[in-house]
Amino acid sequence: MTIQQAINNSSVISNTAAQEAPINESVIAQLANELFAALPEQKKQALNFELPDQAFGQSHPPQPKDPITALSGRIPAIVHQAHLNPRSTQHYVEPTSDHPERRILSSAPVIGGAHTPEPFTTIPDLDLALNSTSTRPYRPQVLTASTTPVQSPFYFLDFTQAESIDAEKIQHNINQTERIKNSYAFDDYHVTDDHHLKSSIPDRNDKPATTESGYYFIQSSTTEAARSHPDWQIPTQTRNDQPLDILQIRKDFPILQERVNGQPLIWLDNAATTHKPQAVIDRIAYFYQHENSNIHRAAHELAARASDAYEHARDVVARFIGAASAKNIIFVRGTTEGINLIAKSWGKQNIQAEDEIIVSHLEHHANIVPWYQLTQETGAKLRVIPVDDTGQIQIDEFIKLLNPKTKLVSITQVSNALGTVTPTQEIIALAHAAGVRVLIDGAQSVSHVPTNVTTLDADFFVFSGHKVFGPTGIGAVYAKSELLDSMPVWESGGNMIQDVTFEHVIYQPAPNKFEAGTGNIADAVGLGAALEYIERIGIHNIARYEHDLLEYGQHALQSISGLRLIGTALKKASVMSFTLAGYETEEVGKVLNQYGVAVRTGHHCAQPILRRFGVERTVRPSLAFYNTTEEIDVLVSVLHQLRRAKPHRSAFSN
Ligand code: ALA
Repeated sequence: MTIQQAINNSSVISNTAAQEAPINESVIAQLANELFAALPEQKKQALNFELPDQAFGQSHPPQPKDPITALSGRIPAIVHQAHLNPRSTQHYVEPTSDHPERRILSSAPVIGGAHTPEPFTTIPDLDLALNSTSTRPYRPQVLTASTTPVQSPFYFLDFTQAESIDAEKIQHNINQTERIKNSYAFDDYHVTDDHHLKSSIPDRNDKPATTESGYYFIQSSTTEAARSHPDWQIPTQTRNDQPLDILQIRKDFPILQERVNGQPLIWLDNAATTHKPQAVIDRIAYFYQHENSNIHRAAHELAARASDAYEHARDVVARFIGAASAKNIIFVRGTTEGINLIAKSWGKQNIQAEDEIIVSHLEHHANIVPWYQLTQETGAKLRVIPVDDTGQIQIDEFIKLLNPKTKLVSITQVSNALGTVTPTQEIIALAHAAGVRVLIDGAQSVSHVPTNVTTLDADFFVFSGHKVFGPTGIGAVYAKSELLDSMPVWESGGNMIQDVTFEHVIYQPAPNKFEAGTGNIADAVGLGAALEYIERIGIHNIARYEHDLLEYGQHALQSISGLRLIGTALKKASVMSFTLAGYETEEVGKVLNQYGVAVRTGHHCAQPILRRFGVERTVRPSLAFYNTTEEIDVLVSVLHQLRRAKPHRSAFSN
């Protein structure tokens, strides 16, 4: 191919829509790449200038000997940057019965303009947009907000001074649970199949189930228990409180340079899946280039490399979620498989007819259906903690549900449909006081808030890799050691056995006894790289930035008449579900897509909670730390235009 052909064939240049858009850095890089690839070899060498790495068809330098360090060594820049929204003024908006969302503690955003009722872009041909054929107007490029640090009363923002869990209140609730327990003659109750639990219930004179700081958002990821554990040789995650340089961080995510319908991609579908930094993409490629093997360590060199990489990833997962040991971590396909594993192993072992399993109204179907199935098989009952009108779990109702038949509480830490951050620490303390095990679904929380299963005292914790910037098809189950040791295997076959005859089988110890067959080795390694990437940025920094972004977004959305936020709890992460009067949710999603904005519309695999709010579907923008206020401005701008296109519809009807 000649250089001229390369230019003519360039996907960048031949894209009509892109021609109209301003040329940005990624376009130049792609052009350079295609041109350079077309040059004869000697000409490349003769050219005495440097092109970007990706112009040479590779995006990272040659690998040093230690692949793990080398490949995850791209440290995203973190600069001192002013705090988002320096002039924000928090205020409390009185709720009304039909608009509980007004309870949001909101601020007046001053950056980017999304708070202004009038959008900064226009959609001259909205009808066409609705029919997917519109020529898109110019849209400004995403910029980074410039900010100054401020003290904030919000629980996310200042981790050193954030509100601590109300120990007195929990103690009061535990006392109340004690009273309930006594009234149900709990003293006669013992956990026959799960005898370790009773001894693990903390002394009532102790502070409840926690913690240095008392609040799970603000704990460091490493506990005393973890630090003193003999197996624990991995460097601890350090706190590194810094504002984030989002523009710099965005460069780590190649897909954010994509164009959709001629527009820069605005990815607001992070609750469905997150994008992958180059460090993860490189790590997986490196695995297949240099390490690919099954993980039978002793067989040969590549088997040893693959085994090391896989077990390193397990170490990283353990460290990231504050587990005492990598032995507490089982690799699974994702949260759904993780919950199924627990239901089919621990559940079948411990749940019998008349027993009760408590879930909340907020749960994803993955945390309902396996328990529903178990109740069908065993004759046990599913009990549901109700939520209030903001979408927050009602602790008082939870306490009433606890009774001697309760065997398990299985709740989400962050709702995928509403974004509610649930009071998991309080729930765990209360459940443990009643002798009940707790499973935390961390699918929507691990990428947004710090996780520490040890200080939380969770019995089980599950999450998916693809929601925390890792690959699809990989996730993890954490369980306390005494549970893993006593739980029966669930899937069986190779890899999970020590010895097999036709008469008997001896299984491997945990975690291997739960990993039958050849696992998803490369993606486990990729997950490890993703978590290391997050560690370098600092999950505390992410939580703080995202909280500001969410506050900004919710405030901006409230400026749109006829928009109803579904899920308005004071403690939320990432998700801004809404309906827009006069429009089907799918229509809204389709128009947003015309502007390059990706959101999920539908029931979000959480039908019960949407029905609780009288809707079957919502539009669900969901944020990650690579999103910006300017991207939210585009979202809000399009919604304003949609609203103006149907002004005759009642602002508050849906
Ligand atoms: N659980 C994912 C979501 O909420 C698929 O979209």
